[in-house]
Amino acid sequence: MSDKKFRLENVNTGTSSELPVHEGVLGPDVIDVGRLYREQGAFTFDPGFVATASCESEITFIDGEEGVLLYRGYPVEQLAKNSNFLEVCYLLLAGDLPTPEELVRFRHSILHHTMINETLLRFFNGFHYNAHPMAMVSGVVGSMSAFYHDSMNIEKPEHREIFAHRIIAKMPTISAAAYKHSIGQPFVYPRNDLDYCSNLLQMFFAVPCEEYEVDPIAAEALDLLFILHADHEQNCSTSTVRLAGSSGTNPYAAIAAGVSALWGPAHGGANEAVLKMLEKIGRPESIPKYVAKAKDRDDPFRLMGFGHRVYKNFDPRAKIIREMAHRVLEKIGHTDSPLFELALRLEEIARKDEYFIEKKLYPNVDFYSGIIYRALGIPNTMFTVMFAIARSVGWVAHWQEMIADPRRRIGRPRQLYTGPDRRDYVEIGDRT
Ligand code: SDX
Repeated sequence: MSDKKFRLENVNTGTSSELPVHEGVLGPDVIDVGRLYREQGAFTFDPGFVATASCESEITFIDGEEGVLLYRGYPVEQLAKNSNFLEVCYLLLAGDLPTPEELVRFRHSILHHTMINETLLRFFNGFHYNAHPMAMVSGVVGSMSAFYHDSMNIEKPEHREIFAHRIIAKMPTISAAAYKHSIGQPFVYPRNDLDYCSNLLQMFFAVPCEEYEVDPIAAEALDLLFILHADHEQNCSTSTVRLAGSSGTNPYAAIAAGVSALWGPAHGGANEAVLKMLEKIGRPESIPKYVAKAKDRDDPFRLMGFGHRVYKNFDPRAKIIREMAHRVLEKIGHTDSPLFELALRLEEIARKDEYFIEKKLYPNVDFYSGIIYRALGIPNTMFTVMFAIARSVGWVAHWQEMIADPRRRIGRPRQLYTGPDRRDYVEIGDRT
């Protein structure tokens, strides 16, 4: 803790407060306003938490101006180049890269928890065939608390660990079951002889009638996308998991809350919305019309996949995904992907437009990811599910960090009340 102070003058009362300032290892200082209400009788006010640090965390660091993203201090670019998703999962959960033995044990645990209870599998028969996969995934993840009573004591580290492994291991299986249900195909069980992403692909695309061979390029592309989506500081869905978990609810319920928050088009639902937008724009000649709509304050249309609360110059993940999109499309023979060409053209036009430059709107992680998912044969409605599979490890890491913190308190923000002043009840006969 630093001995820096921040003096706050209350001009109305002539009083002041000296508030403690905490320094992080990286990033801006924070002003501890815990005493503000007691000393000044006022709350802070920051809708959307634009300038509010909700917690202390050691997991992920983002510098929005410099386009920096570190997982436990390691640059995401280096992890994308040298690591793999399961190793990144270990890093985010344990705090450092695993030794070879640690990674073997971790991978064995994950690959041996991929099956889901057969009763849980039957839940999918209860969903309408055209239910959105995110509705099925959030429902089934929340229902896991009805099955795993042996690991629900959040005060026990061993229960917290087995919960973490179960979520990471079963999210692909649950997601694949949602996909198979939506296309009326039989569920495909996980295989322990395959790596994490190959296993996912075979659960998605294998059918009983013939052998299925995993395309290593597709598995490699998925693994990279999952690394890039694994965690991202206190984003909307991670903050939801922390807030829900702070009540002491079971961890599966907290993760289900995160799945629901991610679904929104302003957050993880953007990757699905980008493809819908590109299909609506249709051809390069129509781009100026939609850019104009995005700039019109009276038009609710926004360029999906553009803008970010934190990144104001570029999203480092978008740069990696754009480069990867080229490679993947070429390798799997979609070089003439009109959607990809349209996306590149849209980015080029938007990046030169004064409005987007002034408002610092650049492609984010969701702008290109859907194009790759589509090229791998994954339908639009499953794009956010793919995001949820990857982000599960981030949610779990933050939940574990919050639960293990001895200073943990239930999250309970206050408000600025602007409703009616106190008034007495009026009998119905006296109302006009
Ligand atoms: C993710 O937080 C995270 O880290 C999220 C994420 C993660 O890994 O967890 O990175 C993943 O959610 C990426 C974002 C995906 N969402 C989209 O692509 C949806 C489109 N983008 C916007 O809805 C928006 O940019 C947000 C939600 C991403 C950011 O919203 P902010 O920070 O609240 O910004 P804002 O809405 O206040 O916008 C600031 C200005 C506004 O104009 P003014 O009111 O100042 O005149 O920029 C404009 C907005 O109208 N603007 C856009 C725009 N995004 C913002 N205008 C046109 N198109 C856009 N996409």
